[in-house]
Amino acid sequence: MTTDTAAQAAYVVAALLFILSLAGLSQHKTSRSGVVWGIAGMVVALAATVGLASRSITATGLVLIAVATAFGAGIGLWRARVVEMTGMPELIAIMHSLVGLAAAFVGWNGYLDVDAELSGSLLGIHHAEVFIGVFIGAVTFTGSVVAYLKLSARINSRPLTLPGKHILNIGALVAFVGLTVAFVARPGLGLLIAVTVIALALGAHLVASIGGGDMPVVVSMLNSYSGWAAAASGFLLANNLLIVTGALVGSSGAYLSYIMCKAMNRSFLSVIAGGFGTPAAAAEDDEHGEHREINAEETAELLRDATSVIITPGYGMAVAQAQYPVAELARKLRERGVEVRFGIHPVAGRLPGHMNVLLAEANVPYDIVLEMDEINDDFAATSVVLVIGANDTVNPAATDNPTSPIAGMPVLHVWEAANVIVFKRSMAAGYAGVQNPLFFRENTQMLFGDAKQRVEDILRGLDSLDAPVPEMAGTTR
Ligand code: TAP
Repeated sequence: MTTDTAAQAAYVVAALLFILSLAGLSQHKTSRSGVVWGIAGMVVALAATVGLASRSITATGLVLIAVATAFGAGIGLWRARVVEMTGMPELIAIMHSLVGLAAAFVGWNGYLDVDAELSGSLLGIHHAEVFIGVFIGAVTFTGSVVAYLKLSARINSRPLTLPGKHILNIGALVAFVGLTVAFVARPGLGLLIAVTVIALALGAHLVASIGGGDMPVVVSMLNSYSGWAAAASGFLLANNLLIVTGALVGSSGAYLSYIMCKAMNRSFLSVIAGGFGTPAAAAEDDEHGEHREINAEETAELLRDATSVIITPGYGMAVAQAQYPVAELARKLRERGVEVRFGIHPVAGRLPGHMNVLLAEANVPYDIVLEMDEINDDFAATSVVLVIGANDTVNPAATDNPTSPIAGMPVLHVWEAANVIVFKRSMAAGYAGVQNPLFFRENTQMLFGDAKQRVEDILRGLDSLDAPVPEMAGTTR
């Protein structure tokens, strides 16, 4: 068997391992094995690629590959060890930017280093691949950098609203098509520079004009773009595995974005076109009235008397790492005969499944963790809802206020419960930058402070309510 045939066979094996990995990652229970399949696929792919390359490169080239692999693997291992769960989306965004940058470089290389055997229509196809690869890569690169800056709060997450922004986007696409035709007919450095600049500007503008609430979709759209960028590089490098893997990432990312858009009641095309449904944050300055506060001891009393409790966690639970005391609270209340369930919004936190992972980590039983659609009708019959570090996902303005930037997004109907306790540190807005009228409702009370500390205070409060008071023993319950 020649090296080439062996490498192509290894590519097929790697592609199958990647498909197995995606299948494993689609369910919590099998996600660990999904990761292992993915790692195995990548090891096979790397080994085959280096094997193929070793036929035509010098020893220095091989040493450079080894150094680059060790360097990249070192950075990857270090980042994966130190990243917090709350920092995952930023990490993913910045990684997508590298995929985009690599695709743009491969495209440029394809222009500078044309295979001498190409001629006629094959040469035309090659130039189209160069142009498309550079375009998708550059859009992905700057789009991902802006997403990273927004997600890590280094820039404001509000949508940028330039006058005629849709015309700018459409103009950039039309210019891309025109320039592609010109480039295929007569390749030139000026045209390649022009498309690179247009694509860089388009990527930055597309993501900058998308509002905070729509960022989950953006992250998964960029995931998809990075897949298509990799597939474009695969065509240029005549590498079948890169084409297959890029297409897998591209299509699964696009499908995930579609599912998220449906969950958030957003139009897929409008989100990717940049900033649909994000008029001015008109509702923000409204006078909402006064909010009421409660302390941990009073909350413990309320919970002691409750018959049913729903906990709706959000990003703040992740920041505070409050999942362990929250799990303990759920366990204690259940021991007392209180019905306790968790209501999970599809975009609670900062990445899909964020809350499910945290709760599983703290050993909360799967059967009491329900999706939004499964639990939304039950709030009206619930004694107490604990909103732990969630904000946008429980905002009634999404259903009541058509001018709100998050209007139409399905939310957890927590306000229908008899009592709502909101755990947060201040009256600050959530990720979408919108004030939440829930905090000012009559049945809502705010429990200020770090979520972990407050839940621990409640646990102590429940214990002291249980402890018999010596001189009045027997009359405390
Ligand atoms: P958010 O709307 O971001 O609200 C989180 C709340 O937690 C904030 O109001 C914050 O208020 C509070 N908080 C922060 N640290 C806290 C701490 N240590 N203790 C107590 N409270 C704390 O969260 P959400 O309801 O989960 O909604 C998610 C938002 O993120 C949505 O807008 C969604 O579109 C967006 N997003 C989601 C994803 C995915 S895929 N899930 C990805 C990107 C963006 P204080 O500062 O006052 O404490």
